[in-house]
Amino acid sequence: MKTTYTTRNGHRTDGTHTEPFVYQLDRVSKIYGSGNYRVAAIEDIDLAIRPGEFVTVVGASGSGKTTLLQLLGALDRPTSGSIACLGRGLANMSERELTLLRRRHIGFVFQQFNLIPTLTAHQNVEAKLAVTGRDMGGDRLRELLAAVGLEGRANHLPSQLSGGEQQRVAIARALSTNPSVLLADEPTGNLDTTTGHEILQLLRTLSSEYSQTVILITHDRELAAAAPRTIELRDGRIAWWREHHLAPPAPVA
Ligand SMILES: Nc1ncnc2c1ncn2[C@@H]1O[C@H](COP(=O)(O)OP(=O)(O)O)[C@@H](O)[C@H]1O
Ligand SMILES: [Mg+2]
Repeated sequence: MKTTYTTRNGHRTDGTHTEPFVYQLDRVSKIYGSGNYRVAAIEDIDLAIRPGEFVTVVGASGSGKTTLLQLLGALDRPTSGSIACLGRGLANMSERELTLLRRRHIGFVFQQFNLIPTLTAHQNVEAKLAVTGRDMGGDRLRELLAAVGLEGRANHLPSQLSGGEQQRVAIARALSTNPSVLLADEPTGNLDTTTGHEILQLLRTLSSEYSQTVILITHDRELAAAAPRTIELRDGRIAWWREHHLAPPAPVA
């Protein structure tokens, strides 16, 4: 009898496609403190994210956005409920296994760009690959920098780049390991409105052109609305969600 197994991308070896969820959350809560100091940062969240989705999470300050992202990023464990990433339950995984999951499958982008100031744009991405023990040919690295709109900026130091350009380097760095999902916590928080929209458009284009799964957190409703699917958090709970279809974005120049 021939055995069938499922590859990382959800393709069975018999040619059928299973499309596992990138994330499945079942009644997930994260409680800080206890008694009078009890804070339910995330409470009873059910959520499923499909491969290639671009989802924005919106909510006021303190609504639980960062807590949710840290749970998705396997940087923290829930108080109760279960989280599966790529079909694997996180609860049973050791710290070492969670580290490997993060390294292989998850790319992070934050409000702070966290670039190494003495390294060029190109070298910042290269340094990340060195840490993860991977090598990407110089041509592919250049392609990646071009894909985020940094052609001609590869040899600039962070201090020679605008905020928007620095965030593009951080995005290229996060994507260099070809992660299954990109998690972005307020990536536009340090940028002016126009630049913030450009970064959002870039992520959206990367999502549609490369089927990159992206989960982006923002407190900016207008930004959030530009995504095909938006979830609003209020006091740690999902207050509402919306899904709609948009015209495909313009290709990256
Ligand atoms: N380590 C922590 N200890 C205690 N309370 C926390 C901790 N982290 C977050 N919180 C609380 O959880 C709630 C959600 O915080 P957070 O996820 O950072 O919200 P957001 O990112 O939407 O601003 C807030 O009330 C916050 O004060
Ligand atoms: Mg936050």
